[in-house]
Amino acid sequence: MTTEQTTAGCAWITGASSGLGHALARRMAADGWRVAASARSADPLAELAKSAQDLKGEIRAIPLDVTDPAAVTAAVGTIEQALGPIDQAVLNAGSHQPVRAAGLAAAAFRDLAELNLMGTVHCLEALLPGMIARRGGRIAVVASLAGYRGLPTSAAYGMTKAGLINMAEALKPELDGYGIRLQLVNPGFVRTPLTDKNPFPMPFLMETEDAAEAFYRGLGSKRFEIVFPRRLAYLLKILRCLPAPLAFAVTRRLVPEP
Ligand SMILES: NC(=O)c1ccc[n+]([C@@H]2O[C@H](COP(=O)([O-])OP(=O)(O)OC[C@H]3O[C@@H](n4cnc5c(N)ncnc54)[C@H](OP(=O)(O)O)[C@@H]3O)[C@@H](O)[C@H]2O)c1
Repeated sequence: MTTEQTTAGCAWITGASSGLGHALARRMAADGWRVAASARSADPLAELAKSAQDLKGEIRAIPLDVTDPAAVTAAVGTIEQALGPIDQAVLNAGSHQPVRAAGLAAAAFRDLAELNLMGTVHCLEALLPGMIARRGGRIAVVASLAGYRGLPTSAAYGMTKAGLINMAEALKPELDGYGIRLQLVNPGFVRTPLTDKNPFPMPFLMETEDAAEAFYRGLGSKRFEIVFPRRLAYLLKILRCLPAPLAFAVTRRLVPEP
């Protein structure tokens, strides 16, 4: 992987009360970053901030619901006043709800679109004017390998993650022109509260700390796309390239019993 020197500055991580965002916040603070950690739950964020007291950097709890655009704009203002301009944003807040064809209901699609997709867009809307004016900054959008190709039970989740992948690809060339580095993070399976509820086997499941390490290394690289674990990413990249009949021959086997 091509790596470059990164200077610890101000980072903003959404979805930092648990899982990947929580582990990444600690990893970045350990390296000297001043991290603003956001999620809806104030208590775990306060504990996270407290747990960072011995680390080289710091973690500041900024409770926030990313589905509320006005609150997102206010949070960015608060963070930049307290910790300085955001050098690295990690737009990671997200959730998953399995969907089956029988009993399909619009609510799951709407809720996930509001959080995974629009929550990310609200953050971009609040961040970009400042970064464009400063002609610099880094943004990582967390999508998923599930966004590569439609997978059984992931109709709503995959819809949002495929949307994020496309959105990031669309924005990157233009943001390059402003000196803003946009990266796309596509994790496979990582052991977090989000995957704890999965009833199916999860190939190449990664521990949260290992995933946060790979995530952080990726942020310090020049790569557009950060993937982990690599073996699952390669398999899904092949699946993405298969002609539809072959791909369905694979994904049909992943349909769970009714
Ligand atoms: N784990 C995996 O295998 C995996 C694989 C691919 C992609 N991902 C992606 O990685 C990201 C992190 O997932 P995770 O596995 O770490 O799951 P997680 O432990 O459930 O973390 C999700 C985070 O998002 C926050 N969040 C949820 N709704 C929010 C809202 N409206 N506003 C602000 N924050 C909100 C949650 O905190 P509150 O509930 O306190 O708000 C929590 O901090 C997600 O985007 C997920 O889709 C995960």
